[in-house]
Amino acid sequence: MRLVHTEMPGPGARRIIALMATDTAAADDRAYPRELERALVLRDGSRVTLRPIRPDDAPRLIALYDRLSRHTAYQRFFTIMKRLPPDWAAMLANVDYRRRLALVAEPADGDHELIAVGRYEPTDDPATVEVAFVVQDGWQERGLGTILFRAILAAAVARGVRRFRAWVLAENRRMLDLIVRYGRVEQRRTEQGVTELVFTPAPSADPPAAR
Ligand SMILES: CC(C)(COP(=O)(O)OP(=O)(O)OC[C@H]1O[C@@H](n2cnc3c(N)ncnc32)[C@H](O)[C@@H]1OP(=O)(O)O)[C@@H](O)C(=O)NCCC(=O)NCCS
Repeated sequence: MRLVHTEMPGPGARRIIALMATDTAAADDRAYPRELERALVLRDGSRVTLRPIRPDDAPRLIALYDRLSRHTAYQRFFTIMKRLPPDWAAMLANVDYRRRLALVAEPADGDHELIAVGRYEPTDDPATVEVAFVVQDGWQERGLGTILFRAILAAAVARGVRRFRAWVLAENRRMLDLIVRYGRVEQRRTEQGVTELVFTPAPSADPPAAR
């Protein structure tokens, strides 16, 4: 299930329908994986908390989208929306922490606004998930995307995932570099400016840096 890819022909349209039809199974408090909560110090010294998403994050996802530059929003969603629709936000915030999981980052000393989200979603193959990431513009290039990427991969592997798929704009060097650095790419194909990659986690990668 690809997340919001409206301008793409073919599978894109089909995937949106799949997305909207997905039952937004209410997140189960008992399933909330507290072990994925982490306090981070980024390379510029800023303190950030990483934690699994919760249903009450839906309005914060809308607020985060409002703060993204058009460029960043487009790189994430492949379309420009005036706002993140509330039903999408609700769907994105409600995960079962197993087949669907998202981690969010918030400044440790802030008012709990979200500054980054990484997630995986199921595909037709139970062992393969689709990943997507976004870091708010002012927080980019501090190492947060790398930490989030590796944390999502590790959480997925711990839940039985073996293979990852990502759809990335062909010009998006930063995301492509991240995947190549921490993944072993098995398939890669570019169509209409979008690169689809299928990869497994690179075995040699060190554990994600965190304090
Ligand atoms: C891709 C993204 C998640 C990376 O997040 P980030 O916090 O900026 O990532 P990092 O700071 O960890 O940098 C990751 C790597 O990108 C590369 N990089 C960083 N800044 C770069 C730049 N200006 N140009 C090119 N590459 C750059 C480096 O290899 C860097 O690792 P290093 O600094 O340790 O060598 C973030 O840029 C983003 O949200 N982009 C828009 C949404 C998007 O593209 N999503 C991907 C679709 S799935």
